[in-house]
Amino acid sequence: MPEFISVTFPNASTEIAPIPNASIDPEYLTRYARNLDDYGYNYTLVPYDSSSYDPFTIGATILSVTKKLKVIIALRPNTLYPTVAAKALATLDQLSSGRVVVHFIAGGSDAEQAKEGDFLSKDERYGRLEDYIKILRRAWKSDEPFDWDSEYYQFKQFSNRVRPTNGPIPVSVGGSSDEAYRIGGSLADIFGLWGEPLKETKDQIDRIYAEAAKAGRPDSDRPRIWVTFRPIIAETEDLAWAKAHKTLDALNVNTAKGQGKTPPNAPPPQNAGSQRLLDIAARGEVQDRALWYPTVTATNARGASTALVGSPQTVIESLLDYVDLGADLISIRGYDNLNDAIDYGRFTRPEPKPLAPPAPDWPETRSTIDQNPAKMAKKTITGESHVGAEDQVFNTNPALSDPDKPGVDEDSYNPPLCVYPSWIQQLEQGVADYEKFIRRVYYTIVSAQAEYERLQQQTVKHANDGLEAHRARAVAEGPEGVKAEHSAGYMKARHEELKMGYDCMVGEASNYAEELRRLPLQQQTRTGPKVVSIETPNQNQSNRFHFAAESVEGEIEPRISKSTLPDPEKLDDGLNSPFESWLLDMQGKLFSTPTTTPLRSTK
Ligand SMILES: Cc1cc2nc3c(=O)[nH]c(=O)nc-3n(C[C@H](O)[C@H](O)[C@H](O)COP(=O)(O)O)c2cc1C
Repeated sequence: MPEFISVTFPNASTEIAPIPNASIDPEYLTRYARNLDDYGYNYTLVPYDSSSYDPFTIGATILSVTKKLKVIIALRPNTLYPTVAAKALATLDQLSSGRVVVHFIAGGSDAEQAKEGDFLSKDERYGRLEDYIKILRRAWKSDEPFDWDSEYYQFKQFSNRVRPTNGPIPVSVGGSSDEAYRIGGSLADIFGLWGEPLKETKDQIDRIYAEAAKAGRPDSDRPRIWVTFRPIIAETEDLAWAKAHKTLDALNVNTAKGQGKTPPNAPPPQNAGSQRLLDIAARGEVQDRALWYPTVTATNARGASTALVGSPQTVIESLLDYVDLGADLISIRGYDNLNDAIDYGRFTRPEPKPLAPPAPDWPETRSTIDQNPAKMAKKTITGESHVGAEDQVFNTNPALSDPDKPGVDEDSYNPPLCVYPSWIQQLEQGVADYEKFIRRVYYTIVSAQAEYERLQQQTVKHANDGLEAHRARAVAEGPEGVKAEHSAGYMKARHEELKMGYDCMVGEASNYAEELRRLPLQQQTRTGPKVVSIETPNQNQSNRFHFAAESVEGEIEPRISKSTLPDPEKLDDGLNSPFESWLLDMQGKLFSTPTTTPLRSTK
């Protein structure tokens, strides 16, 4: 199972819709990072550029608002003395309980390096990188103060008390030159590549492994391979290709306007990785299944730029080709940054976590019928056919499906399945839009599920009773048994219908959640603190819930995500109804604990 990497964007500016001189947008950054976390991305790269933000502080911010996501801090050795870097990385690692990786950039462009005072040749930069990695690892491990005396670094009696959480921090190296293969192959835990066709990628992996072997590393200790793509996906192949050409047009227009990543007529890039990409681009637009190169040419191969175009299925299959080659880490980032990250999460991540458990399959029907006709004939036949019973089950109560009647929730998607009891309505009136939304999504799932299970149980019971009666009759009466088969088939069909209905509702709730994620943040956020008191219908004091909204703008940011939706299976503890359990759970997540202390004042 590969791990997935994204790239961090500090604001809503993208290559296809640039916002000139955009500054860091903390809300956007938080939202982007939390989406990655919720969708199960394993890492996000925090890239480095001489003119851009500081990856350490951006990384710290991401780590403070996420739970599992790891950050890959891009680091150019010329920008930070190695002992300082060792401590800075270890500090971040401790603060995040071990969620830090470092990605080294030797520096691919002399001009870019010169901007920050680095005038070494490229070979020298790789030599310095070799030293740098060794110093960091020593600083993370050494119990004793140590000296260093090499061509690039000299220091005496450095002693470090800031250790990473889980032993040395994983070190990644990126590049495609001989020196990159040598240093990365011999020293790195991870080796980063840009997306090339399968054959060329295989060649590069072989080179890296050969360097690892040359350095005496056993096969079990070779660098893990990271490959980077810019997938352009849509529901169908045609839509994906239309999106790809639109993306390309936007890249070209923006470059012409001077708003691209490189100026129009930029000179050929100096780094081997970009040169390789441009050479491959000259061979044709599409390589292998769906690797698309015009985006490489349009951006002068500035950074990872090879697209993978197609339906989710095509993109998944393409990515799996690279996993088969030996890629352990797959970096996917799009051109429409946040929306693409969400779409990848929805469509292309293998084994996505379902929003709700899938509907159970048709169970084996219980049969107490003894197939021996002689024995059966002696059985007392008391059962009646219940073939018509499904009507009772599926017919809706007209009083409850009329949204204008009291006690009926007009908001529900499907009145027959989503009729809320009145105490829930009281609750609904008392809470703000955000809580309403979560509840609505949740109800849709839970009520569909509960209703589904109830109906399924009844259906199975009726099916079994009917089946048994019919079989018994078939034994006793001969041709009548045909009806039993009809009954079983019919019930099974009803089950399938129910299952589809349930899946449909879960899908609907999921889509609704996705839509909300795409809304501008301010539309998701409540506007003022409030205290909500909710009473259950029996007015029993112990059943009264109080909520004090602790944080409105900042402290606890509203999150709609799979992780905030509870696992309905875990809710029914036999004491509280599923909804109550959920409520208590959400109370912990969104609000202060039930108050025995005074409530905050209502505003
Ligand atoms: C996965 C990956 C991520 C990279 N991230 C950065 C980055 O954040 N900043 C940067 O200047 N270069 C980045 N690079 C570029 C290379 O590290 C850089 O071109 C290298 O120093 C020299 O490349 P070469 O050995 O291929 O000539 C990245 C490369 C790869 C493969």
